[in-house]
Amino acid sequence: MYLELIGHGHPLKIKTLFTIKSLGSLLGTHTCLLYICVFIYFWSQLSMLNVFLLVSKIVRGSFLLMKETLRYLAGTAGPSGYGSNSTAEQVTQDFACFVSPNLTAIITGATSGIGVETARVLAKRGVRLVIPARDLKKAAEVKETIQKETPKAEIMIFETDLSCFASVKRFSSDFLALGLPLNILINNAGIFSQNLEFSEDKIEMTFATNYLGHFLLTELLIEKMVETAEVTGIQGRIINLSSVIHSWVKRDSFCFNQMLNPKNYNGTRAYAQSKLANILHAKEMARQLKARNARVTINAVHPGIVKTGIIRAHKGLITDSLFFIASKLLKSTSQGASTTCYVALSPQTEGVSGKYFADCNESSCSALACDESEAQKLWKHTRALINRRVYHPPA
Ligand SMILES: NC(=O)c1ccc[n+]([C@@H]2O[C@H](COP(=O)([O-])OP(=O)(O)OC[C@H]3O[C@@H](n4cnc5c(N)ncnc54)[C@H](OP(=O)(O)O)[C@@H]3O)[C@@H](O)[C@H]2O)c1
Repeated sequence: MYLELIGHGHPLKIKTLFTIKSLGSLLGTHTCLLYICVFIYFWSQLSMLNVFLLVSKIVRGSFLLMKETLRYLAGTAGPSGYGSNSTAEQVTQDFACFVSPNLTAIITGATSGIGVETARVLAKRGVRLVIPARDLKKAAEVKETIQKETPKAEIMIFETDLSCFASVKRFSSDFLALGLPLNILINNAGIFSQNLEFSEDKIEMTFATNYLGHFLLTELLIEKMVETAEVTGIQGRIINLSSVIHSWVKRDSFCFNQMLNPKNYNGTRAYAQSKLANILHAKEMARQLKARNARVTINAVHPGIVKTGIIRAHKGLITDSLFFIASKLLKSTSQGASTTCYVALSPQTEGVSGKYFADCNESSCSALACDESEAQKLWKHTRALINRRVYHPPA
């Protein structure tokens, strides 16, 4: 019988049968059968335990998800005292008297959506604004609107295309030439493109704009921020706009070269990957800043789902119907800007670095976004690319 089974069996089965056979001759067939029965009994008990653990995990997960959803819908305040309903104006009003005078902030993407509201509220709290924008006309309109409400607001505009390394470099040197301090950097600009497009540097446009442009901008301005913090004693703060969608990214699809030049483009995947990169950038940079005792923090935020330009670009019956149905779940632009403003100005976030915030509270991000080695790997790849393309481009 053994031979027959061995003849047709799987290698693992063959090995097991040989082991049973030799055990059988060693211990006697009956003793051996007894051991096998005991083993099967414990194994089945363990399986039952595993099934039970799995079911309880699913139930617990669903319960937590339901709790989070209810908390979001009700706008229940979290430990910070704010929640999904809090507006940027409310969260900054509460600590307006703690905001240091003469702060300077750079906000990217302040010509539309969340960036405009962030700029308006920071200007209202007395922060000097520097806006790098690709559309100067739109930026001038934003400046005019803000100054109507806050006539004293100081706002500077620079023509900048974040998807282009040379443009980011030009903006940074123009800004540094002004000799101004730099306390806050808000990496807010973003795109979500359904079609595959390439930047001037021949890099996929979403990755180039949302991640690489901001990485370079931060790198070119970080010494100014560290120096400002040392001279003024006021902690510098960097905020990377990310998204909850970062958690959709699977580890095996997060490949640097593929993100630069994808073989099969998918707009949602490209966007999610860039938003994951924004968190990993914040995590790794926070680690490096801590290691050198710099008084500058960097955090990532999910602003919530807000119907801004980034979503409006995705027209169609299905998208429109979904947004109509989900309109009660969406945040207003003012609610969407609250987490950024909270992290940028609140005394509660002083010293907090390398974290992920949502609804004005510290939140948890995906396991991949928390993976230190992944953050370091991404950093190394990005540094190498920037070194090649920006600092030592081929002649
Ligand atoms: N809205 C949401 O539901 C949501 C959810 C999660 C995360 N976010 C994140 O929040 C941030 C703000 O998005 P939003 O919803 O406010 O989008 P938005 O209304 O489309 O604004 C995007 C901003 O980025 C600017 N921008 C895009 N490409 C640029 C480039 N190459 N150079 C310079 N500026 C560029 C746009 O400039 P123009 O005015 O010239 O187009 C605009 O000011 C983004 O990082 C986004 O990923 C948004």
